[in-house]
Amino acid sequence: MGTDKETKINIMNSIKIESQILIRRCKLNDLEGVIEVNERELPEDYPYFFYKSILDNFPEAFLVATDKDNKVIGYVMWRVEQIPSMDSLKYVNKGHLVSIAVSQEYRRRGIGTTLLSNSISAVKKHKITELVLEVRVSNYIAIKLYEKFNLKMNSVKKNYYRDGENAYYMVRNADTN
Ligand code: ACO
Ligand code: ZN
Repeated sequence: MGTDKETKINIMNSIKIESQILIRRCKLNDLEGVIEVNERELPEDYPYFFYKSILDNFPEAFLVATDKDNKVIGYVMWRVEQIPSMDSLKYVNKGHLVSIAVSQEYRRRGIGTTLLSNSISAVKKHKITELVLEVRVSNYIAIKLYEKFNLKMNSVKKNYYRDGENAYYMVRNADTN
């Protein structure tokens, strides 16, 4: 029984992009590959325990794209943050896109879009009110991708990155499509 259920979940959660590329949930032994992609494609690096804690806490929205050899070629990860509601009487959940990247040689094939759309559906299950993220103001391509998902620039975070670059803070109501 348990095995049946697990198979179903795996089938539902793995999506074929091209014959060889699969999108599925990240597993513990994928983390090394995720870190490799991150270090190659983004200047913001995190220690292993950071990835591990995201995987432990928000596994359903931590997805990887893999090639024919099951090698990680892309990933997306979110965390859910509790913030005081407008009247401060209770907390609401906000889905924060921590990081997304696709290996250079696999870009522009819809992998980023598929990672994002499926992880958004997954993170929404945490009853969140908003989706939020920061992106470098110079990162035109990523901004384009986020705009496809109706994320809108909300404000600028000055000096957000270690090298001094500003970030756009982009926000979307969780119920918007
Ligand atoms: N020029 C212009 N727009 C582009 C380009 C390009 N070269 N490549 C992608 N886009 C935009 C387009 O709007 C595209 O949609 P379209 O194909 O319908 O026009 C959209 O991005 C998505 O394209 P995908 O093929 O689905 O995305 P891809 O698999 O190439 O991944 C990603 C996009 C993840 C941004 C990739 O370029 C990447 O890894 N960049 C480096 C890492 C990075 O900057 N990550 C985001 C940091 S911010 C954060 O993580 C919160
Ligand atoms: Zn952030």
